[in-house]
Amino acid sequence: MTDIEAVIFSEAEIAAAIHRMAAAIARDYLGKTVVLLGVLKGALFVTADLARALESVSADVVVQLDFLAVSSYGNAHRSSGEVRLVQDTSHSIEGKHVLIVEDIVDNGLTLKYLMNLLSGRAPASLRAAVLLDKPYNRRVEVPVAYIGLTCPDEFVVGYGLDYQERYRTLPYVAKLRSEIFTPIGETVAT
Ligand code: PRP
Repeated sequence: MTDIEAVIFSEAEIAAAIHRMAAAIARDYLGKTVVLLGVLKGALFVTADLARALESVSADVVVQLDFLAVSSYGNAHRSSGEVRLVQDTSHSIEGKHVLIVEDIVDNGLTLKYLMNLLSGRAPASLRAAVLLDKPYNRRVEVPVAYIGLTCPDEFVVGYGLDYQERYRTLPYVAKLRSEIFTPIGETVAT
């Protein structure tokens, strides 16, 4: 695709990272039922792939799926810093082992907001699994139990990540050509 400057993580690299995450999760939740709570829309693909990877690495973990939706970026490529709950879970998480699944953690505000919100609902446990960690611009400390890959300090799209709702369906994670999202005279921020 001509809008792409470089592939950062290939399909194979993503699949291997998800398999490693699934193996670690399976060890920790042996004999338990875990709710994979995908954060829409970005985590759609990682949640689906992680759930299936968990089934394939262990028959001794029962996987349930639920989703919620938040928005913090709007249509900009910078975070607004404001997190909104757009859609709540379909089932109560009280007494359940909940694993929040995210595509990316960047400034940390989204995950922090979700941890605060969900911990108040008395889950049996609450952790986070994130495919891409971007540790360069954290504004809040937030614990991530399972990390797939460390992402370079670039604005990336694909595998769920969008720019203005485009590029989510790319099977890889890629850097966009900067002229796609940088108006003339503006410096690029991630
Ligand atoms: C993205 C991503 C995370 C969040 C991480 O979601 O999916 O939820 O930003 O950023 P942070 O650590 O800086 O808070 P976005 O708000 O773009 O919504 P989307 O998932 O619908 O694309």
